[in-house]
Formats: sequence, C-alpha cells, structure tokens
Amino acid sequence: MHSENYANELLAWYDRDRRILPWRAAPGVAQDPYRVWLSEIMLQQTTVKAVLPRYADFLRRWPDVRALAAAELGEVLAAWAGLGYYARARNLHACAREVVERFDGSFPRTEAELRTLPGIGDYTAAAIASIAFGARATPIDGNIERVVARAFAVTIRLPAAKAEIRALALGLTPAERAGDFAQAMMDLGATLCSPRRPACGLCPLVSGCEAHAQGLAEVLPYREEKPERPTRRGHAFVALRDDGAVLLRERPLKGLLGGMLETPSSPWTEGAWHELELDHAPLRAEWREVPGLVEHTFTHFHLELAVYLAKVSAEAKLAKSAGPDRCRWVHIRDLHAAALPSVMRKVLAHALEAKPLARVAAAPPRARRRSA
Ligand code: ADE
Repeated sequence: MHSENYANELLAWYDRDRRILPWRAAPGVAQDPYRVWLSEIMLQQTTVKAVLPRYADFLRRWPDVRALAAAELGEVLAAWAGLGYYARARNLHACAREVVERFDGSFPRTEAELRTLPGIGDYTAAAIASIAFGARATPIDGNIERVVARAFAVTIRLPAAKAEIRALALGLTPAERAGDFAQAMMDLGATLCSPRRPACGLCPLVSGCEAHAQGLAEVLPYREEKPERPTRRGHAFVALRDDGAVLLRERPLKGLLGGMLETPSSPWTEGAWHELELDHAPLRAEWREVPGLVEHTFTHFHLELAVYLAKVSAEAKLAKSAGPDRCRWVHIRDLHAAALPSVMRKVLAHALEAKPLARVAAAPPRARRRSA
C-alpha cells in the first residue's frame, strides 16, 4: 500500500475507533505536553489498565510540572509503588526539576532537546514531539514494531530488524497529524494487530498488509530467543515491633529498586541456597522461619526469598551492619502509602499473614527445598 494511503486509512480508522484515554485530546487537537510526557513514561513496560488509576492520582496530586518538581522524591516513589521499573520514577522527578530549571517550566519542542532530559530516550522524545507538538516524528514501541513488521512482512529477527523497522515506520509517518498517526499505530497494535491472534478481518490496513498476503500475520515479528532467567535467592527479615511497626530500609538510589523501601535481607545470590546467616539480620532477636517462599520475577532474574519474622520490643537496637541511618519503623497501617515495591509487599504479606515455624536462631534451617 502507498504510504499516503496507509496513513489516511489508519487515521480514518483512528477517528472512528480510537480508544478513549484520559491523556488523549480529541483528534487533531494538541495535548498538554506534561500530560503526554507523564502518560508516556508510565506506559513504558506497563499496561494501560495498570496505568489508568495511577495517572489520575498523579495528576490530582501534581497537576503540572512545577508541582511535580516541588515534590520530594520519596513521595513520588511512594505514588509509583507497584508500577515497577523504579528508575522511571526517579527520572520523572529529575526531569520535572530540569524542565523547571532549564526550560522555565515548558517542555522543549524538538526531539533533540527532549532527549537531553532524564528518562527521555528516542521513543519518548518522538512521542512527545509528535503528540504534544505535532512534529513529524515516530515513536517506535513493541506494538508499532509488530504492526510495521507485518505491514511489510519483515522476516529478519528482532532485535536485528529494529533499524529496518524504524526506517519503514518513518516512511509511513505523515507530515500532518503525526501524533494521531503514532497513537493510531499503538491502538492498532494493542487491539486488532495483537501478538498471537490478529483480527485481520477487522483491520483497516489488511488490503496492503504483506504479512497477511503471505499468511505470516500470526507469526511475525520473529524474535531471537531470550536467554533463560537465572534464579537468585536470599533471606528476608521482617522485624515486627510490639507497637505494630515494621522495620524498613531505604535501598541505595542507584540500581535495582533504587530509593525504594525494603525489608532488610541478605544479598540475593545465584546458585543453591545459603545457610541462614544471622549476621544479615538487622537486629538480634528470636527469628522464626515463615513457611513457604516468596517469589518474584524481575526482567533479568527470578527471585526466591525465605522469610524470617521476629517480634521485637520498642527498645530493640539495630545492628550497625543494618545501616541504621537508612532504616525506619513504619506502622503496618501506614504501609499502603510507603514506597514499597511489589516484591516487598509480598514479603510483608507473607510474614504478617502466616504463622511462623519454630525459632531458627539455634538451629539453621533445613537444606532448602527446590534448590538449584
Ligand atoms: N502506549 C504508549 N503510549 C500510548 C498512548 N499514547 N496511547 C495508548 N497506548 C500507549
């Protein structure tokens, strides 16, 4: 299909059948850059369904970029808790501050300038430039990759096919309504041109789709197989004070779950289970093993945590090795508002809902089940 026809057919479909989403203006109308930026950062690696309530919360609390820049990082991380990929939240906050300091509170309009801001890479720069400022730019996410790979029957495997797909996508992008075109591609990928069972019979572009013509729509794009995730294992310690507070610790700002809260734990290491080492516990107490394991899958590894619970008194003194400066006691009734990532919510739920076994201080735990 000629690229102009492709864009026209797609935009006509978008005008009729687009998803109504709170970060979208009506077709052809420019949207507030702050809202576009916030939604695009949230939507990276996160589904529309999970984003919708958080997007509304964020806008209510921080209706513009100056309000967000004035927030404390801890508040932003707490509001982000559960959405995952926490570097996004740290960058979101840093970006808001830079927009205020370097650009007097107005997002810059070009892709090149947008890319100088924290957390804004090629994809987000193109999304903001096209959706908020009407520039002819093409954000390329997984949905758009799939739509383009099918439209042109690109049979090279991803990620090697990325450069070709990008060039083809840019060629399709119209000079007018590039933002609507990008969002139409996203909608097509999220609804009709789905990964496994594309609804080609309903697709506005089926007549020009090479993959459909060649019977490849269900299988493209081809991908290199991903290496299997390794499993890491560790021991997590939940100290419950008699006034109902639990001990939490702030993780270092850099790295996985940076700046979020955790229950103190031993290092997470690959390979078989280590013996429990009480040196890793944040304080001396009668630690009891909670039956079962907490499991969580991150992008690059799977995690299994054995959980230990101790009831401690208000006078309990933290071990130096626990890093007392980074530790704080949080009442269980306030946990919902804390910057706790999902894995740590699982640890706390596991410890606070289950009945612990006998104390483990005297006897190290049995050789762990299901070890590597
Ligand atoms: N995914 C990423 N950006 C999006 C947008 N603007 N609309 C719908 N889904 C999206």
